[in-house]
Amino acid sequence: MSHNLLSGKRGIIFGALDENSIAWRTAERVFEEGGRFVLTNAPIAMRMGQINELAKKTNSEIIPADATSEEDLENLVTKSMEILGGKIDFVLHSIGMSVNVRKGRAYTDEKYDFTTKGWDVSALSFHKVMQTLYNADAMNEWGSIVALTYMAAQRTFPDYNDMADNKAYLESVARSFGYFFGKEKKVRVNTISQSPTPTTAGQGVKGFSGFIAYAEKMSPLGNATADDCANYTVSMFSDLTRKVTMQNLFHDGGFSMTGVSQEIIDQFG
Ligand SMILES: NC(=O)c1ccc[n+]([C@@H]2O[C@H](COP(=O)([O-])OP(=O)(O)OC[C@H]3O[C@@H](n4cnc5c(N)ncnc54)[C@H](O)[C@@H]3O)[C@@H](O)[C@H]2O)c1
Repeated sequence: MSHNLLSGKRGIIFGALDENSIAWRTAERVFEEGGRFVLTNAPIAMRMGQINELAKKTNSEIIPADATSEEDLENLVTKSMEILGGKIDFVLHSIGMSVNVRKGRAYTDEKYDFTTKGWDVSALSFHKVMQTLYNADAMNEWGSIVALTYMAAQRTFPDYNDMADNKAYLESVARSFGYFFGKEKKVRVNTISQSPTPTTAGQGVKGFSGFIAYAEKMSPLGNATADDCANYTVSMFSDLTRKVTMQNLFHDGGFSMTGVSQEIIDQFG
């Protein structure tokens, strides 16, 4: 169902890898709501080729960019404005990767080269994206920038490993840059803290299936799906949320505010 919430708006969507990706689902919803955008992902992710399918479906062009490369980001922002015919109204940062997690290193046995790489990809890249947009004066007034995060930034989930620290940094960057983007350009910056979601990145977390089942039982409304997240992101890109900025917005069916649920208590009865 479309309400034309994003009619006339132009954007950049990072991180659609396959149809499970939160960015993929968001791109589909944004398209339904009348938004036009450029899709981007790391050159290595392009080789899998699936993003072409999404581009076709949404009449969008793809510009490869490694989100850790300032040069790639400058090229992305310049070309996106050319392709879309003007400044940008919305940006989705949907990027995460921990080399320590990938290589099976425990949090107490980090290899710091891996830590640094994961932080650059997952957290500092958000600053790089925003600094590129800011310096190019690429955002329209009342534009909206969203990054995706997870509650391990506030509470400990042992298997989330160094991604917890990356998410804490990401959320802090949203607040800090949100101040300058708000003051100077009337652009809002927020993070959406999403439920566990079965995607490539999500399933990389050790014990993910137990974890997502636990979250489902703990959340009064149940876990938020990728499609739910897409809907929420559309609302954050729309003009209906103009004064929401510098927030970390929990989108988790109530998980973050639930101490314990009856279903979990029953398991110990
Ligand atoms: N899946 C979950 O359980 C969950 C929960 C909360 C938050 N998130 C967050 O949602 C976001 C999207 O992840 P997802 O779950 O859709 O998984 P995904 O694996 O589909 O998406 C991650 C994306 O990051 C991209 N990426 C990796 N390195 C990159 C680089 N150097 N430059 C540009 N892009 C790069 C990948 O190619 C991929 O498209 C991430 O920030 C993730 O941490 C996911």
